[in-house]
Amino acid sequence: MQLQYLLCETLEGIATVTINRPDKMNALNAAVLGELACCFDALKADASVRGVILTGAGEKAFVAGADIGELAKMEPLGAKDLAFYGQTVLGRLETLGKPSIAMINGFALGGGCELALAATLRTASKTAKIGLPEVSLGIIPGYGGTQRLARIAGPGVAREWVLTGDMVTAEEAWRVGVVNRLFEAAELKEGTTKLLKTILSRGPVAVRLAMETIRRGQNMSQQEGEIIETDMFGLAAATADMKEGMQAFLEKRKANFKGC
Ligand code: COA
Repeated sequence: MQLQYLLCETLEGIATVTINRPDKMNALNAAVLGELACCFDALKADASVRGVILTGAGEKAFVAGADIGELAKMEPLGAKDLAFYGQTVLGRLETLGKPSIAMINGFALGGGCELALAATLRTASKTAKIGLPEVSLGIIPGYGGTQRLARIAGPGVAREWVLTGDMVTAEEAWRVGVVNRLFEAAELKEGTTKLLKTILSRGPVAVRLAMETIRRGQNMSQQEGEIIETDMFGLAAATADMKEGMQAFLEKRKANFKGC
């Protein structure tokens, strides 16, 4: 597929996807959403890609939301379809089976904040601003934000962000656990890459199973989640990487994981 709004490059197993619509603060119009869907599918299928960094082009924005020009024309059924489609696209990021980091380099508002919430982790520049301003426009978040924010930071934070529509500083987002790591703007790329490389240096099957266990367990009781955990624990113990990881520890050397 010819990509108009995304820049994708892969280096040492890390694919960096840049939403490139800086004149509109990288807002998610229908075309950008469609390209993201194709891109997430391609990244999932590409075995050479082991992790993903998602960011926005330019100095000012990660993504300043869904495209308000398009939203303004919505009627109820179309809005419902759009929310469903947006949720499926962001769901593809969440279920990539590979770690992803939303590298928030500026405004992450509305659909942009929701996109970041669907990534495995979030890093941010200290100058970034984050929020869910939808109620200021007379709508509510529709790309999974109400659900993911409540799961990541708790219902109290979700209510405060969604009901006030206020933007918060990156530091506040970090304080409440929405952002995992904060960096000076000039160090954001290096710090984010280092974080992802740390994850990629661990047993790849174990990382994947752990991500899946946490994700699936979020929608279950503790007891049901622990059943998934025991199954995944057993599955991890069937891998050659498990034997290698433990042998390497005992031999006081670095593990050489093969991903199987
Ligand atoms: N949808 C469509 N266009 C958007 C947009 C969005 N979500 N966010 C920004 N833009 C456009 C602006 O309309 C403007 O376009 P123009 O130059 O053709 O007029 C351009 O991006 C630059 O934005 P501008 O508002 O001039 O920049 P700013 O630095 O003064 O303010 C923001 C930046 C992000 C604070 C402001 O653009 C904003 O509040 N955007 C909307 C955020 C929002 O409500 N998102 C949730 C949508 S559900």
